[in-house]
Amino acid sequence: MTTFHVEPGGSMTGRIRVPGDKSISHRSIMLGALAEGVTEVHGFLEAEDCLATMKAFQAMGVRIEHLGAGQVRIHGVGLHGLRAPTEPLYLGNSGTSMRLLSGLLAGQNFNVELTGDESLTRRPMKRVTDPLALMGAKIDTSATGTPPLRIHGGQPLQGIDYTMPMASAQVKSCLLLAGLYAQGKTCVTEPAPTRDHSERMLAGFGYPVEKSGNRVCVRSGGKLNATRIDVPADISSSAFFLVGAAIAPGSDLTLEHVGINPTRIGVINILKAMGADITLHNRREVGGEPVADIQVRTSQLHGINIDEADVPLAIDEFPALFVAAACASGRTVLTGAEELRVKESDRIQSMAEGLQTLGIAATPTPDGMIIDGGKLGAGQVQSFGDHRIAMSLAMAGLRAGGRVTINDCDNVNTSFPAFTGLAQQCGLKVRQS
Ligand code: S3P
Repeated sequence: MTTFHVEPGGSMTGRIRVPGDKSISHRSIMLGALAEGVTEVHGFLEAEDCLATMKAFQAMGVRIEHLGAGQVRIHGVGLHGLRAPTEPLYLGNSGTSMRLLSGLLAGQNFNVELTGDESLTRRPMKRVTDPLALMGAKIDTSATGTPPLRIHGGQPLQGIDYTMPMASAQVKSCLLLAGLYAQGKTCVTEPAPTRDHSERMLAGFGYPVEKSGNRVCVRSGGKLNATRIDVPADISSSAFFLVGAAIAPGSDLTLEHVGINPTRIGVINILKAMGADITLHNRREVGGEPVADIQVRTSQLHGINIDEADVPLAIDEFPALFVAAACASGRTVLTGAEELRVKESDRIQSMAEGLQTLGIAATPTPDGMIIDGGKLGAGQVQSFGDHRIAMSLAMAGLRAGGRVTINDCDNVNTSFPAFTGLAQQCGLKVRQS
């Protein structure tokens, strides 16, 4: 089991490009597989989660060439060309794979079973199977609504008009993918804006998507035309470095080619509201997604009440933001973020325990956290098998009073296998054993 050892101090400097966006990488495989023609992907995230999606489609008869260095060539089989896999599809730690695939596979004419690791097997799936059942899908879950999912093929789907009870891009994307196979029109209304990569990418493949306000609709009967996809660097992987450079004295770090889709920039909004010195350079649009180079320099952060409107826009970045709050002067209060409790770990509890071990007054609440900034000490903390907890607590070492040891860091490979190398290059004194 991998352990991270972080010696205290250091600053974060230089220019780096973190790996490709996880959400966009998953979708590139899914839509590329369903398209007609050959889709070329550049900047694909070569991490366990996205490779699980790739393997799932290979197991369903799609020829996918993994050329290395983020290049992938997908020989699309068309919307009706997938074949029954001979075994259950194992999706590892990846909630995105399981939730999006449940919608995509509900409309196929074969049976398929979706499984995952211990963490994924604990995550709620009723949020997708309930609305899919309204569309006519037949999917079995465990008695408590968790994986494995057994999808019964050959069920005719009917479009629905669904209002999501929670702001979830995974649920929205699941239903839109099912909608490609459903009779009539499928519409999803979201209570707050969530990442819109599925909608953008469908449009990029030439598939009509209707969007008005917080409602998005698709109809069946269209087709996807193969295209080229340039995956920007992941703002979620960038977040650890944004926080690291904001809190470490003497830092000046530039993160290149980062996706700054407006549905993903909560981390920038929140850090800026805390007083971070962040500048976006060279804004441009690449393949339908906005991109920029992000420069961050040290500053004295101050605590804030986090705007609930930023919560879905920063949903994966709170573990890192909690470290920023621990280093800020005064109190930071997060509310409206109960979704954090059903991520790869219960991220409210995991981070509260980690920060408390390091001497910070971090008080979990049912839907968020109250953190009083203070002096980080040394200690041994747990990742709880969650990649984002491991990487966030590693950054805490920059301001710690002694060595921070983080146990159980294998899961970093699910989203960011090169993390320690890149972090060392920038100045974090981390090694792994
Ligand atoms: C994702 C959506 C988010 C996010 C996850 C990736 C996606 O989940 O936490 O890491 O790619 O659609 P929810 O939609 O469940 O909030």
